[in-house]
Amino acid sequence: MIISIVNQKGGVGKTTIAINLAASLARKNLSMVLIDADPQGSAIQWHAVENNQAFDILHHPDTLNKTDIEELAQNYDYVVIDAPPAISDITRAILAFTDLAVVPLTPSSLDVWSCSGTVEMIKEIQQFKPNLDVKLLINRKIPGTRVGREAREMVRVFDLDILASELCQRVAFIDAMTSGVSVMQYAPSSKAAKEVESLCEEIVTGSPQQTMGAEDTSQEEEMVAPTPQEGTVFTDTNPSYGEIYEEEEETEKPYLRSAF
Ligand SMILES: Nc1ncnc2c1ncn2[C@@H]1O[C@H](COP(=O)(O)OP(=O)(O)OP(=O)(O)O)[C@@H](O)[C@H]1O
Ligand SMILES: [Mg+2]
Repeated sequence: MIISIVNQKGGVGKTTIAINLAASLARKNLSMVLIDADPQGSAIQWHAVENNQAFDILHHPDTLNKTDIEELAQNYDYVVIDAPPAISDITRAILAFTDLAVVPLTPSSLDVWSCSGTVEMIKEIQQFKPNLDVKLLINRKIPGTRVGREAREMVRVFDLDILASELCQRVAFIDAMTSGVSVMQYAPSSKAAKEVESLCEEIVTGSPQQTMGAEDTSQEEEMVAPTPQEGTVFTDTNPSYGEIYEEEEETEKPYLRSAF
């Protein structure tokens, strides 16, 4: 099965999701290869930090060739493709042989608007490739906030399936990336790891993991923007906005060290 993580908008989490999904599939003993189709080579850079052996990874920043991909698909249970942030010939070629396109979206109007070109391209390709399945995935949701709760409503404008699994905004995703490992390796019992495992389970079986149910509103591990008080002045020097993200408790992590 070929799964592509696509969105023309940069920074919505394509690479983070591709790497963690790939790692989670590999942990299920499914053979898998990740193709980094982005000229930026972010997934390859992640791989170089630890020479992570969790799964095979290839850099292919040019237009992918159908024969090569079909050959790979025969040798692996899953091929996961991390697409570049553009509506380009590369993305079009990727979608042409994709079985499932996962489109990550952050719950922000700007990101939802910027994604419409990607959705149009997918719908255009579906006209001659009706078996191209597409699912929206909410990423960087901030639990306990109105925008977080309204995220699903916001992305319903596209009239596409939305995965029940959601990924919240969590420092573990960033720290694991810096350390060259997946969130499951970095913090196996973290909420981030559970969210990825639920996503993987939903992709493989069609149902999310049982443990992911009602919205988790606890603040532990999240990167939470402080709630503005009435009359708050938004300046760089405002003490309540000096630190946008809440720090999580410092604990010794086996993999946490500078990647640079
Ligand atoms: N769920 C999350 N929680 C916290 N940070 C996240 C999450 N998802 C992604 N990020 C962070 O957001 C930034 C962008 O993520 P990422 O590079 O995966 O996006 P991208 O869509 O691949 O970007 P590009 O389009 O440039 O390739 C990174 O700093 C990443 O660590
Ligand atoms: Mg990327």
